Amino acid sequence: MGLKCMSLISGFLALQFLGGLLCMAIGNVLHYDFVLKETNFTRLCSTKSMLTVNGSFPGPKIQVYRGDTVYVNVHNQGLYGVTIHWHGVRQPRNPWSDGPENITQCPIQPGTNFTYEVIFTTEEGTLWWHAHSDWTRATVHGAIIILPPPPATYPFPKPYAEETIVLGEWYKGDVMAIIDDALATGGDPNVSDAFTINGQPGDLYNCSNGTTYHLVAEYGKAYLLRIINAVMNEEQFFAIAQHNLTVVGADGAYTKPITTNYIMITPGQTMDVLVTTNQSRSLYYIASTPYADTTAPFDNTTTTAILQYNGNYTRPSSIPFPPLPAYNDTVAAGNFTTRLRALASKEHPVNVPKTITTRIFIAVSVNQLICPNASCSGPDGNRLSASLNNISFLTPSIAVLQAYYKGLNGVFGGDFPSVPPYLFNFTGDVGNNTLYPSQGTKARFIKYGEAVEIVFQGTNVGAAENHPMHLHGFSFYLVGTGLGNFNNVTDPANFNLIDPPEFNTIGVPKNGWATIRFFADNPGVWYMHCHLERHASWGMDTVIIVTNGPTNATTIRPPPAYMPPCSS
Ligand code: C2O
Ligand code: CU
Repeated sequence: MGLKCMSLISGFLALQFLGGLLCMAIGNVLHYDFVLKETNFTRLCSTKSMLTVNGSFPGPKIQVYRGDTVYVNVHNQGLYGVTIHWHGVRQPRNPWSDGPENITQCPIQPGTNFTYEVIFTTEEGTLWWHAHSDWTRATVHGAIIILPPPPATYPFPKPYAEETIVLGEWYKGDVMAIIDDALATGGDPNVSDAFTINGQPGDLYNCSNGTTYHLVAEYGKAYLLRIINAVMNEEQFFAIAQHNLTVVGADGAYTKPITTNYIMITPGQTMDVLVTTNQSRSLYYIASTPYADTTAPFDNTTTTAILQYNGNYTRPSSIPFPPLPAYNDTVAAGNFTTRLRALASKEHPVNVPKTITTRIFIAVSVNQLICPNASCSGPDGNRLSASLNNISFLTPSIAVLQAYYKGLNGVFGGDFPSVPPYLFNFTGDVGNNTLYPSQGTKARFIKYGEAVEIVFQGTNVGAAENHPMHLHGFSFYLVGTGLGNFNNVTDPANFNLIDPPEFNTIGVPKNGWATIRFFADNPGVWYMHCHLERHASWGMDTVIIVTNGPTNATTIRPPPAYMPPCSS
């Protein structure tokens, strides 16, 4: 419905007005004000000032119906430039409001404001928004809830109540200083000091058990939990003691219901989960622990909340705790992910490309760069780096979208390769020849309307681990995953083209592969990167540019009257 509305909008003022009127008939227009400001927060026995939206952590929730449009005016009263991204919102033809810093816009400088136009079309379920400048998203993020527009309903029995569960990460230090220091020395950034559930670390950390998040529930009801992984650097296992979880959606799309006693959720992903309160009235721990099957340092702590039944009962002497897989349990992670299927109903059909016209194969690696006299703090005095197809992405100082739209040369190259420059045993003994990437700002052009397949091949270069790859501007179908090297003869035979789950972020298994498919039906400049923040900072990024199609309705929209200026 929203899409139909979009196609009516043209560059002419009169028609734009008409388009606006027609939009109102089929989708609401909402306005939000986001004030970015430093706010004091106390966690883990210490207080720090950090950037927030409207003074809250997590930040404010945006709630809409499918097909609505939201204008968010972001007023920066903070100390440095910031941008905001609407993670998982397709934003048809409108990359101007997508947000990644120096990809689609330059930062909103302190003392200025910028209004994002967030266009909801096909998404339904849970998404989220977050800052997209350096590491500011650690404290600047919040939920986006997209309800079925009446008379449409959920494709499952209406839950008694809903609750948003934002998984976050707490650093005692200033996150901006942590990444700045790491990039200066070339070593690993400090790991966090805690994980959080709705901003609270929970009972297992110092100075925290007075403020543990409580989910207060009635007996015998169904609750819809909208779980968002806003953690910076670790995938998470999540469970509730003695309660099954029924996953019904992920990344703003419905799934076939699957019942499980834990989920694995990567940074960037969301999962909608039904929980029935059918155990004896009591207290039960909700817990989230890292899935980090890697040699890199990570925060190996556990955040908790409490599911608290209403009623009169004696508090248990010890609150039951859920069993969770070990932090390095790759099998448990894979067992969960491979169970997810698209709902694929009449109301929520699957539209997966069957005949591919553009194929891209991307090797995903953690690398190193050589430092003079081994003066860096990474392995062997080298600098830690990361790459896609052996190119470590350099963020330009002029936004790629601006350069593309205005035809400015010298900002980016269009030569991101469709295959890795070297073919080697990606997941075996990789030797040293691919340890050192080249550096550049390279984008991949895709013609409007192409049926695209991307194979992400995780590698054993540097430090192998699961990489949550995220694409802006699209959701895509996960048609297959596997361990080891992708085999382009035998693996496609097992692709799921019937009910592949739809995601905007997908974990590429450690030393394995993941294949996604989508139609390139959204012209624009779209960032693609690992959602582990340290990998994105090290260059595990690229840009997909979908060219304009033949009509107005398949052409990128003109820029809004005001875009934050790029300084150089
Ligand atoms: Cu969740 Cu590029 O972002
Ligand atoms: Cu990664």
